[in-house]
Amino acid sequence: MFISFEGIDGCGKSTQVTLLEAAIRAAGRNVLLVRDPGHTPLSEAIRGLLLDKQQSMMTARTELLLYSAARAQMVETVICPALEARTVVICDRFIDSTIAYQGFGRQLPMADIERCNAVATSGLLPDLTLFLDIPLALSKRRCGDKGADRIELAGDAFFQRVIAGYHHLAFTQPDRVRRLDAERSVAELHEQIWCIVSEHTSFAA
Ligand code: TMP
Repeated sequence: MFISFEGIDGCGKSTQVTLLEAAIRAAGRNVLLVRDPGHTPLSEAIRGLLLDKQQSMMTARTELLLYSAARAQMVETVICPALEARTVVICDRFIDSTIAYQGFGRQLPMADIERCNAVATSGLLPDLTLFLDIPLALSKRRCGDKGADRIELAGDAFFQRVIAGYHHLAFTQPDRVRRLDAERSVAELHEQIWCIVSEHTSFAA
């Protein structure tokens, strides 16, 4: 099973992926937690470029290609072998981030986003995507003054479009992309996530 988590900064993804990983492990399954972009040395190096504030001249199309390159490396060398070994894979972000951030946020043509996603993943889709939804105002409160990276400097209008992109995905692909109210407590949200994962697979019963 392949599960991805999505949402804007401060939505609680990191906490929830860790809790889900522990719960799946406690249920006796092998589980691998990865982040996109990242995980492999090459993908982490690309992540460094993507988030570096010094790279302020990076164009939206270059950004799209770099996210795709980082993902291609991780899919082929890490995710596919793990899934073949029947390991449950939890991915902190995946293709829906590219649709929301580069498609809706940067407003690149959706056909280009889809082509890049297809090349990067060879068509691999998560079985389940959990979108942790919070309003932008809460994201800003939760993130406070922590040093913003290059993407986080994009501004409110950009992030409102990203949120709209995630809502669009949850609306148009309701079987895969589940929208969760991430203003709830950590424990409540984890319980809800565990219920949804249980609906999809027998190991969480
Ligand atoms: P993180 O903050 O979840 O670690 O993700 C890194 C940043 O990269 C975050 O601001 C979202 C952004 N991002 C994209 O813009 N497009 C993508 O395809 C991915 C995976 C992340």
